[in-house]
Order: sequence, then C-alpha cells, then structure tokens
Amino acid sequence: MQLKTLITRNRSFRRFHPEPRPGRARLEAWVDLARLAASGGNLQPLRYWLVHTPEDCAAVFPHTRWAALLKGWRPAEHEVPTAYVLVLAAPGGATPQADAGIAMQTLLLAAAEEGFGGCMIGSIERAEIIKALGIPEGFELLYAVALGKPSENCLLEEARDGNIAYYRAADDRHHVPKLPLKSLILN
Ligand SMILES: Cc1cc2nc3c(=O)[nH]c(=O)nc-3n(C[C@H](O)[C@H](O)[C@H](O)COP(=O)(O)O)c2cc1C
Repeated sequence: MQLKTLITRNRSFRRFHPEPRPGRARLEAWVDLARLAASGGNLQPLRYWLVHTPEDCAAVFPHTRWAALLKGWRPAEHEVPTAYVLVLAAPGGATPQADAGIAMQTLLLAAAEEGFGGCMIGSIERAEIIKALGIPEGFELLYAVALGKPSENCLLEEARDGNIAYYRAADDRHHVPKLPLKSLILN
C-alpha cells in the first residue's frame, strides 16, 4: 500500500466489529515495528502492555474516555475495542511523550496495513487501569491505543473557515476536518 493511502486510511476509529480480534501475535508484530521508531537520545524508555483477552479488554474499557466532542457518546457494547496496547514509560527517557506519539502512529499504521485500526486514548484513568491489570510499579502509563476491526467510516475533509470540530453526520459517518496545507506552511 502506498504511504499516502495508508496514512489517509489510518483514522482514529472508535467503533469496532467483535471479530476478528487482533490477537496477541499481531499486537507483538505491531509493537515490533513501533520499537524501531525514533527515540530521543535513543534512550528507548517505552514499554508496552498487551491487552487482548475479552476479560482484560473488559477491565480496561470502563477507564477510557471517548470523542469529547461527541457529547455523552461512547462505544456501545457490540462495538468496543477488541485489544489495547498500553504505552508506558520507564524512568530515564529524554522525550517519552514524543517517543510515544511516534510509536503509536507506527503501531496504528502497521494495524491499518492489515485492515485493522484504532485510536490513541490519552484520556484514561491511569491508576485504575494499572490496578485492574496488575501492572508492576515503576512505570508511567502514558496512553492506551484501542484496537480492533473498524466498523465505522471516517471521512477526511478540508476544514472550512478554521472549523476543525470533528462530527458525525446524519449518515452516521465520522467526519474529520483537516486544516488546508496553505494555512499551515508559514513561508
Ligand atoms: C495524543 C492523542 C490523544 C488522544 N486521546 C484521545 C482520547 O482520549 N479519546 C478519543 O476518543 N480520541 C483521542 N484522540 C484521537 C483524536 O481525537 C483524533 O486524532 C482527532 O479527532 C483527529 O482524528 P484522526 O486521528 O482520524 O485524524 C487522541 C489523539 C492523540 C494524538
């Protein structure tokens, strides 16, 4: 798949089919690519926790917050994620937040290439997730990447008059306005 196609297809998906589930082997393969990404000072502070069983997914989901602009909405029971990759930081990194962004994008592109998809979730109840899964002390939970087989259509569009609020249209498709190139390049 061409890079432009992959990047365009790689939207934030928040509704999923119950099957097929990504499964642990695929999560490992995606993290195997993420670990090759750039890291400040090459210090590589990121660690990962793979969530793939129905039980562990059910333990994480209540502690995730979804699409703040779609007031009161969250995935229904039949459309919840079927896996998560939790991104944690060990102490001593130089740029853990930037590293996490690059790693999550890499992971999501790998998922998109295989027909899966997901959403970076920064709005999570960290202490609750750590407790629910028994994650050992000494790591900072940065993000959850929710994953699965997307069941929704996401459409990119050019933002008009600076309006960047994503929305769901009457046809149930999720629209994502992006600022025009000309408004971004300053010189
Ligand atoms: C660092 C980061 C944190 C995010 N956290 C959340 C979140 O907590 N919940 C959510 O539903 N979406 C979250 N998103 C997804 C954004 O809302 C999404 O990227 C944006 O609406 C644009 O859609 P797109 O990814 O399809 O371009 C996050 C995205 C990023 C980059």
